[in-house]
Amino acid sequence: MKKLISPLDLTTGEIDQLLALSDQIIADPAAFAHKCDGKILATLFFEPSTRTRLSFESAMLRLGGKVLGFSSANSSSAAKGETVSDTARMSECYADIIAMRHPKEGAATAAAAKIRCPLINAGDGGHQHPTQTLTDLLTIHRLKGRLDHLTIGLCGDLKFGRTVHSLIRAMMRYEGIRFVLVSPKELAIPDYIREDIIAAGYPFQEVESLEDAIGEMDILYMTRVQGERFADQAEFLRLRDHYILDAAKMERAKPDMIVMHPLPRVNEIATEVDDDPRAAYFQQANFGRFVRMALILKMLEDDEETGSLIPADAVELGDCQNPHCITQAEPSLPRLYTRSEKGVCRCVYCEHEYQG
Ligand code: NCD
Repeated sequence: MKKLISPLDLTTGEIDQLLALSDQIIADPAAFAHKCDGKILATLFFEPSTRTRLSFESAMLRLGGKVLGFSSANSSSAAKGETVSDTARMSECYADIIAMRHPKEGAATAAAAKIRCPLINAGDGGHQHPTQTLTDLLTIHRLKGRLDHLTIGLCGDLKFGRTVHSLIRAMMRYEGIRFVLVSPKELAIPDYIREDIIAAGYPFQEVESLEDAIGEMDILYMTRVQGERFADQAEFLRLRDHYILDAAKMERAKPDMIVMHPLPRVNEIATEVDDDPRAAYFQQANFGRFVRMALILKMLEDDEETGSLIPADAVELGDCQNPHCITQAEPSLPRLYTRSEKGVCRCVYCEHEYQG
């Protein structure tokens, strides 16, 4: 596998292998200290990041490799108008593997489409964030001992929260999973994710009250309201403190429920919850480095090409109406869509429905 854009690019067998390898690295990190000697990771971060970029860099350094890259669009040629595809083509001359974060949805697909070097999507706007999902899966596997037969509550900004979209896609392939989606209507999950859950036949509820639903959950995955993705700042201010998990709400939860959060936290988890043994978010952040070490190792080892990122039956239509789509920023990209069995056309980059 040479490109990781969405968790669905990994089979469940490959996920099992990555989690097993992460366990081995946690148990004996010294055994992996030279596995990537002589290799270079490029971190192309067009959008702010603390954990994801530093954990990628730390992962490569702890494997014996080296890192180069940039941490904001202003310090790259994007500021001069270069396309993500051209930046990626340059970077593969200088590095063996690329991790890229970008504020536009579908940017990773556009960047990866024309390069041979492995590329990892480290977050593309409000779309997908597969390595956070691997971090989440490692956390669930280590703290709950299984990835199946779990009721998972996801709470907060389910519309723009890319970690939520990727986690749902990943969990949708295990037995006995039930989703409780807690959000105000304005921040409900996008249609393409809801359709995925329905097509896979998994039970889910969409509710507004965290208090009422918390007692059923084995995992509560809190998220921040993504202020940077709102067109209307007044709407953001109205919604940002909609959910605050505090000690009183935790009293209603199962004694073995775990609380996860991709971080950064803003107000949505009161600091008093940090001392509750069920709070798992700082452990979760720590697991991120190990699973990224495992991923870098596997992707550098594996010679098998990912199939074309642009499906052969994609058709060219008009502009994608999603204002956050990479095609809105890059006029030279072809406007390509795939048609689902139900006849719905979705943008190959951001997956939003073509309105015609
Ligand atoms: C998340 C992200 O960037 O999507 N953070 C992370 O990667 N750990 C969540 C967020 O920014 O809210």
